[in-house]
Amino acid sequence: MYSNITTDVELTRNVLTTLGKSWDQRVAVRKERLDLGQHYDASIPDFPAALVPFWEDEDFVGLSPEIKSRLLATAWIAYNEKAIYLEEAIVQPACGILFRGELPGVGGARIKQVVAQIQVDEQFHILMCLDICHVARLRHGLLDYVFPEPELGVRLKELVRSSSSADNARVAQLAYASVAEMSINAYLDAVAFDMTIQPLHRINTDMHRKDEAAHGIGFSEIVGSVYRRMSADQQKSFRHYVAQALHDFTTPDLGYWASILEHLDIPRRDDILRRQESSTRGMVLKRDYTTLRRLFDELGIKDDIAFNFQ
Ligand SMILES: [Fe+2]
Ligand SMILES: [Fe+2]
Repeated sequence: MYSNITTDVELTRNVLTTLGKSWDQRVAVRKERLDLGQHYDASIPDFPAALVPFWEDEDFVGLSPEIKSRLLATAWIAYNEKAIYLEEAIVQPACGILFRGELPGVGGARIKQVVAQIQVDEQFHILMCLDICHVARLRHGLLDYVFPEPELGVRLKELVRSSSSADNARVAQLAYASVAEMSINAYLDAVAFDMTIQPLHRINTDMHRKDEAAHGIGFSEIVGSVYRRMSADQQKSFRHYVAQALHDFTTPDLGYWASILEHLDIPRRDDILRRQESSTRGMVLKRDYTTLRRLFDELGIKDDIAFNFQ
């Protein structure tokens, strides 16, 4: 089931060999753990203020520095919870499907090895994010803040539940994981390169970012091999679900900001959120589609996917 080898693989580049061989020297899980108890300067924000969409809102801007600093700490926890969610609910299930060979194109020894390496990496990222959240929760007295399920995850669950077959559900899971793995770097870059926040937070996110840069390349090769070996029906479903996933990943989701404002009991939060909703309605979030676009170009399907990549 797991380690038998077939030749159903259709690779176009040789990158999986490089990724597989360099894993021991390259990945976060093989490096020394960060000291999470290292010096913490309370005057430095936990999370970039520039990423809080309502930072300049008329009802937010005059709040005390203490409340703002607490909001940034909660935002840091939410940011990492979202990363955990993407790993645990979106990417890991798809990796399991690939690893068990439940879709075609993944029977080669090299692909199996890289999929298993990605599974290890993702599980370690979950641990990294969990530990760093716990430190922030203890430090700021935020043990009971609950992160809500992201809209895109709710949509994927609906698609899986309503899909016409188990096979179709697997294709949906792969489509959402493909978009996650080939565009997550924009999410991580925004924090990994920010010099205004706690150095530990930046470094932690940067370690994750480096692993994900390799995953994007690896996933592109693996998904390409799967797609080329899919039946015409599976390919059609994949194109449909990828368009859906791209739509969901680029639609602003105010759910987690609402949960933060609610948890901290920020006054006039309903007005703040209402203004946010009206200013982001119909907005398409910018993402880096370079890897996705290149893969879809190679597969000759970019124009068949109902999404504007510009
Ligand atoms: Fe990850
Ligand atoms: Fe990843």
